Amino acid sequence: MTTVEDFITGIPKAELHLHIEGSLEPELMLEIAKRNKKEIKYKSVGELKKAYDFGNLQDFLDIYYEGAGVLIEEQDFYDMTWACLERVYAQNVLHLEIFFDPQTHTDRGIEFQTVLKGINRALEDGKNKLGMTTKLIMCFLRHLDEDSAMKTLEEAINHKKIIAAVGLDSSELGHPPSKFQRVFDQARQEGFLTVAHAGEEGPAEYIWEALNLLKVSRVDHGNHSLDDEELVQILADRKIPLTVCPLSNLKLKVINDLKDHPLRKMLEKGLLASINSDDPAYFGGYVNENYLAISKALDLSKEEITQLAKNSFVSSFLEEEAKQKMINKVEKYYQENR
Ligand code: ADE
Ligand code: ZN
Repeated sequence: MTTVEDFITGIPKAELHLHIEGSLEPELMLEIAKRNKKEIKYKSVGELKKAYDFGNLQDFLDIYYEGAGVLIEEQDFYDMTWACLERVYAQNVLHLEIFFDPQTHTDRGIEFQTVLKGINRALEDGKNKLGMTTKLIMCFLRHLDEDSAMKTLEEAINHKKIIAAVGLDSSELGHPPSKFQRVFDQARQEGFLTVAHAGEEGPAEYIWEALNLLKVSRVDHGNHSLDDEELVQILADRKIPLTVCPLSNLKLKVINDLKDHPLRKMLEKGLLASINSDDPAYFGGYVNENYLAISKALDLSKEEITQLAKNSFVSSFLEEEAKQKMINKVEKYYQENR
């Protein structure tokens, strides 16, 4: 009989919530810093890893933006993305939807084009060399103002073929989705799909705003949806996916223990939850480590793990036919390894 570990390793899955800047492993960060002659606060892999001890989301973001500061050349963005694809592919992720944060770089004087070209060239290689399908989601930094987001959207309009959707990330508390209603209106008019981080640290009200004002197709995290029964009902009825990130929630103290994670409750209430890694280089693992940790903590069965893997494809931005093909693959895997 296949062990749960092996079952998780082998099951075909999609990853829908991965910040590419959050996949920058310490070794590569230091290598890129060195070649760009960029001073960073932490001088070794050991020092970096020791610093990855966060009290909350903002603690993490401060280090994450500092880490991203080593990225300057197109090749840096390529190398980061390619390294991520290789790791993700090795975990039987067949489809990947990644976030990138252009303002993290344009605010430091890096051209939007430099960022996009480097990332996209790696995604093209992922398709051609690994056979992976990918979608790119451009996030606005919610701690910056609406004008900055609007300027970023204007850049993206020239690259609609490459950018599938826009999202919203960074410091949640004090920056509700309503702050970006006009930007998201414009983005949808231009044909972009929309997603948003909501209910990670913020209240259920922010999830209502993401749905009603930003008209998102998907909610990233959504932990606090469970505080509001009416919201849960709407999310379940409308099959709005939640991209859940267990190790992130633990590392950022959204929960104190994985045993307290709301995932099982979400599934019991009929919510379309999937498992994702968020910022794998910072939170102790890629998607399989997330599946494994939450499966152990909540004692998930192979059926439940299979449901989560199916949910990942159902929740994706793949075309319907491709989705069905992937779901059939997951079911076949379950039948052969149950
Ligand atoms: N940017 C990168 N990771 C994030 C997270 N977990 N929440 C909000 N913004 C982020
Ligand atoms: Zn995230």
